[in-house]
Amino acid sequence: MATIRTQVGIVGAGPAGLTLAHLLHLQGIESVVLERHTREYVETRVRAGVLEQGTVDILCDSGVGERLKREGLQHHGVELRFDGKGHRIDFQDLVGKSITVYAQQEVVKDLIAARLGYKAPIFFEAEAMRVQDYDAQPRIHYQQGGRSHEIACDFIAGCDGFHGICRPAVPASQLQIHERHYPFAWLGILARVAPASQELIYNYHERGFALLSMRSPEVSRLYLQCAPDEDINHWPEERIWEELRTRMATREGFVLKDGPIFQKGITPMRSFVASPMQFGKLFLLGDAAHIVPPTGAKGMNLAVADVRVLTRGLVEFYKHGNREALQQFTERCLRRVWKGQRFSWWMTSMLHRFPNEDSFSHNIHLAELDYVTGSRAASTTLAENYVGLPFDTPGLF
Ligand code: FAD
Ligand code: PHB
Repeated sequence: MATIRTQVGIVGAGPAGLTLAHLLHLQGIESVVLERHTREYVETRVRAGVLEQGTVDILCDSGVGERLKREGLQHHGVELRFDGKGHRIDFQDLVGKSITVYAQQEVVKDLIAARLGYKAPIFFEAEAMRVQDYDAQPRIHYQQGGRSHEIACDFIAGCDGFHGICRPAVPASQLQIHERHYPFAWLGILARVAPASQELIYNYHERGFALLSMRSPEVSRLYLQCAPDEDINHWPEERIWEELRTRMATREGFVLKDGPIFQKGITPMRSFVASPMQFGKLFLLGDAAHIVPPTGAKGMNLAVADVRVLTRGLVEFYKHGNREALQQFTERCLRRVWKGQRFSWWMTSMLHRFPNEDSFSHNIHLAELDYVTGSRAASTTLAENYVGLPFDTPGLF
């Protein structure tokens, strides 16, 4: 079995693993990235779309933001729509910041291109099977092309998403899990039609939540709240458009044009936090450690925020022999993660219909939305969280 030696072994080429590898490279710290899927698979996997300003700054300041600056759609507000009326939350006016709509797979493409450009190791179709001895001399066993290989490293970064192998490598008795399942899911589509609005529209309706987002001036991204066990085959195109039109209708006659749907899928909703996020020399980042429901658009942004914290810890360690920042990894990440959880849970609760809701619950939803959109203090709270809370350290990490 061949053994490769590196400083940081990274499992997973999602936003967390790739951003970490990139920031470490800029600091002269070596890493090897393992990804079990093909390059094409990870570059076309449809997921998140909203980048906080802090995430955009990290990508741009680290030299991978050229296309993002060119093709990303900068938004200065969002609309909350309920009771047949839209209300704009003006980020620029309330908190002086913005968000950028740029698909996660485009971020992934940009980071992979950068890594291949400077010829740093990234192995596709290389599946990590086991992480070992993470308290002393960490090793990652992986399979590629039907053969077993090993990475010996100083640290392991588990960036392998919710279904990866790093979190399960830790004995259950050492992990605290905080979890919430929601009694609904999202049916998401991509359609070749110009977005019906320049900005995102979050809709609350008696029949359930709907979201209008976009990927480009020609491509709309739309979501509908559905049952958690919904069968996508029961949703032909016409039914999807009809339901979206009902939930997004305004008294002024909002028009939602349809177009060919070229991708659709169902996303379950859950909140999940594993604590701690570090075990000896093994660190968990992004979805490997925490999941949020997508209503707050926080998942990928929290993954990048974890990367910042670990990068700082590793730089302090390799450049100054100081372990303090590494020891604070969990504490620093979780402070932000829990605020992201709270915001995502709150947006989800406010905007979705729960089973067996009665007229009392419906009026509470409406009153909360009326308050959030009518009060400058409440709108500011939403805006401040949506664009991303400030980092506790300045600069790249
Ligand atoms: P992942 O992206 O899951 O990457 C993990 C990688 O590890 C994968 O490539 C996987 O193949 C690989 N891997 C797993 N196991 C192994 C192994 N054993 N060996 C090697 N490789 C392995 N977030 C936002 O911030 N904004 C949004 O607007 C938003 N919208 C969303 C909409 C939807 C429909 C969904 C599903 C998610 C959304 N999210 C959003 C969440 C966001 O997509 C995730 O939080 C993000 O992908 C987390 O990145 P990650 O790198 O931690 O994990
Ligand atoms: C998306 O564009 O995919 C998107 C936007 C906002 C969200 C979730 C997903 O809250």
